[in-house]
Amino acid sequence: MIRVLNWIDERFPVRKFWNEHLAEYYAPKNFNFWYYFGSLAILVFVLQIATGIFLTMHYKPSSEHAFASVEYIMRDVPWGWLLRYMHAVGASAFFVVIYLHMFRGLLYGSHRAPRELVWLLGCIIYVLLMAESFMGYLLPWGNLSYWGAQVIISLFTAIPWVGDALAEWLRGDFVVSDATLNRFFAFHVALIPLVLTGLVIIHILALHAVGSNNPDGIEIKKHKNEEGIPKDGIPFHPYYTVKDLFGAAVFLILFLGVVFFAPELFGLFLERANFEPANLLQTPSDIVPLWYFTPFYSILRAVTYPLFGIDAKFWGVICMGASIALLFFLPWLDRSPVKSIRYRGWMYKTALTLFVISFVILGYLGLKHPQDTDLILFSNLVWAQIFSFVYFGFFVLMPWYTKWDKNKPEPDRVTFK
Ligand code: HEM
Repeated sequence: MIRVLNWIDERFPVRKFWNEHLAEYYAPKNFNFWYYFGSLAILVFVLQIATGIFLTMHYKPSSEHAFASVEYIMRDVPWGWLLRYMHAVGASAFFVVIYLHMFRGLLYGSHRAPRELVWLLGCIIYVLLMAESFMGYLLPWGNLSYWGAQVIISLFTAIPWVGDALAEWLRGDFVVSDATLNRFFAFHVALIPLVLTGLVIIHILALHAVGSNNPDGIEIKKHKNEEGIPKDGIPFHPYYTVKDLFGAAVFLILFLGVVFFAPELFGLFLERANFEPANLLQTPSDIVPLWYFTPFYSILRAVTYPLFGIDAKFWGVICMGASIALLFFLPWLDRSPVKSIRYRGWMYKTALTLFVISFVILGYLGLKHPQDTDLILFSNLVWAQIFSFVYFGFFVLMPWYTKWDKNKPEPDRVTFK
């Protein structure tokens, strides 16, 4: 075995790679709960690829057969129901994990120098994940798949002059049709997963080039011993590989709990209207995107006033795009001298709390009718407008409140109990 390894190593330095990224990658010794989600994101990604490959073996990407082929997978293919439920629940689990992973960044300032690139790569991954799930959602060719794609692609028609042509180009037809299904299939199973795989690898390499942040938000590379090893660092393997294995076990218990006992999660992960085949002549009563898109959907619908003679829908699309695009600017909007929430003052703490509340409430409102009153006092629309302001305020006001905040002094070395 050793001889085989040596033989390979002389031709391709596997040991060097193993050491650089695992056995001799020194990660801060104070990682906590929030540091599970990076490795969990990898786990869910692998699960999605594995279940996706098997689904592709039985799925038929044509408007004629797609719906029936999914039913066939659910009823006739051995373990097909498990594959499909794992894949569908996996999509939602991916977003749960990614939102917590991103929130960790905001907690500990992981988006700040020198990790801006890691953050930017993460943001691109996030946008691609949204595209991946949007395209995957069309594939079962249920009625909501169909009308959801119709609504989202028609958003492009709001762009003045070129909108209609652009939407037609994206669909490959005047309406969502077989041509659309085929191209979405190609993107969903080949192009986007391929690009995502590359980006995830670069994301981690970029992180390892500068080293991990930690809950104290201070750089462990500032204090090294005689051998050049950070005094507050421990080898990633075996310490964090074992920690991450534990995280993976707990995650899998929860994940499989949902897969086995509530795979639709009361219509949140798999919507009822999608158990009917696509019907061009019958719009579902509620066209609602899946839960992980609804905060942005709320922002889109919150814009109801035309401006400069251009339709409100156009400004809605712009605001929705801006709400995602702002994430890319976070490393430069944040001007605090400290990174971690532990040493930030009340302003950032309040802003982050309000941001999370606005994100959750916008998400809730996105599942409801704008004209109804599901919260108190105002209609859902008015609340969505108020919380859209809160959402944007978090980003737009950030250069000021992070600069004026009353921070606490950072410790010299990481705190570890
Ligand atoms: C497929 C999706 C993703 C995968 C597989 C992934 C994986 C990872 C892994 C394994 C780590 C190192 C372990 C850890 O710090 O938890 C990490 C770190 C990081 N990720 Fe991601 N990530 C993904 C998406 C994202 C997104 C969407 C963002 C933000 C927009 C992001 C931002 C970061 C940052 C800033 C770090 C450094 C954290 C620190 O050192 O404190 N990642 N990622």
